[in-house]
Amino acid sequence: MKTIVWTVDDLPNLSTSYPHIAQAANILRENEVVAFPTETVYGLGANAFSDEAVRKIFEAKGRPSDNPLIVHIASQDQLDEFVEDIPEYAEELIKNFWPGPLTLVLQKKGDRLSDLVTAGLDTVGVRMPDHPIALALLKEANVPVAAPSANRSGKPSPTQASHVYYDLQGRISGIIDGGATGVGVESTVIDCTTKIPTILRPGGVTKEQMEAIVGEVSVDQALVEEGHAPKSPGMKYTHYAPNAPVIVVDGSHHFIQQQIDQFEKEGKKVGVITTEEAKNDFRATKVLSCGNRANLQTVAAQLYDVLRQFDQEDVDLIISESFPQAGVGAAIMNRLLKAAGNQVIVEK
Ligand code: TXA
Ligand code: MG
Repeated sequence: MKTIVWTVDDLPNLSTSYPHIAQAANILRENEVVAFPTETVYGLGANAFSDEAVRKIFEAKGRPSDNPLIVHIASQDQLDEFVEDIPEYAEELIKNFWPGPLTLVLQKKGDRLSDLVTAGLDTVGVRMPDHPIALALLKEANVPVAAPSANRSGKPSPTQASHVYYDLQGRISGIIDGGATGVGVESTVIDCTTKIPTILRPGGVTKEQMEAIVGEVSVDQALVEEGHAPKSPGMKYTHYAPNAPVIVVDGSHHFIQQQIDQFEKEGKKVGVITTEEAKNDFRATKVLSCGNRANLQTVAAQLYDVLRQFDQEDVDLIISESFPQAGVGAAIMNRLLKAAGNQVIVEK
């Protein structure tokens, strides 16, 4: 299959009649799959009402079939077609954070959604992305669109069209290239079927932001302690992994450099993930900055690109600095620790 790449560079003039959008929407309606940018990461979309279409997502990604997909919508009216029992706090979250990087897990209604989307669960994750291309495409397609991140399963999520192309060229019908995504980590997934909303995956909307609107928000035990099965099936898989193993080192620059020196002495070529503030402090085979520690949003935006860049470098091991868990730091550390398979060295 030849993968078409449509480049959209005049975002301010975007409308549903833009030829690339119309063409991609047509392909979605024909039950083929298309990648598109959202404000978080690129998604791989398919008509959520069609088994045939959704199956193609799992095939293209090599995704385990027990991992449900997020349904994307352009207008709140579409919710009526496939969810019920929206609690009051969920209405508040929708009012405040949609369109935006927040996925609500709600009670599924009826049988219009393909069972493959929900992986047999009686709940469904749904969000309205905050990106002009995504919204125009969803509106024009006029069906809810199931869309996981548009990477091969296990790889870092794509924040640029070139990442999607690298992973999925020849396996999907097309990619809409709208440049780099903004947030850089995926949406927050929040379970709204419980009395108190529960974060299943930290992401672009922070716990603190939601608590300011709805009061208490809890966090799935599996995110806090080891040994609990996650309520979000996708959270149990190894993810975001570059080819070289990753180790997170939590300590002073001096301590981090000692670890680098130790590995290099053993003959390993070490890559380092650091920040603008510290990039001149480290000596290693390759040092890459993923943003400013003083502004963690910049780190979220570039983390996956930096993980992917190391696949183009000749390194045997990647050592990453650690980040504080507050705000978007919770999502950054969740992804880094997954990339590292939980390998952490802490300075005593
Ligand atoms: O930002 C995002 O959310 C991106 C963009 C493309 O929208 N999408 C994304 O999808 O990250 P994906 O498939 O890579 O991750 C979806 C996560 C998985 O961890 C999955 O298990 C969880 O959401 N999920 C989906 N439906 C669920 C449900 N009904 N109950 C619990 N977890 C669910
Ligand atoms: Mg993903």
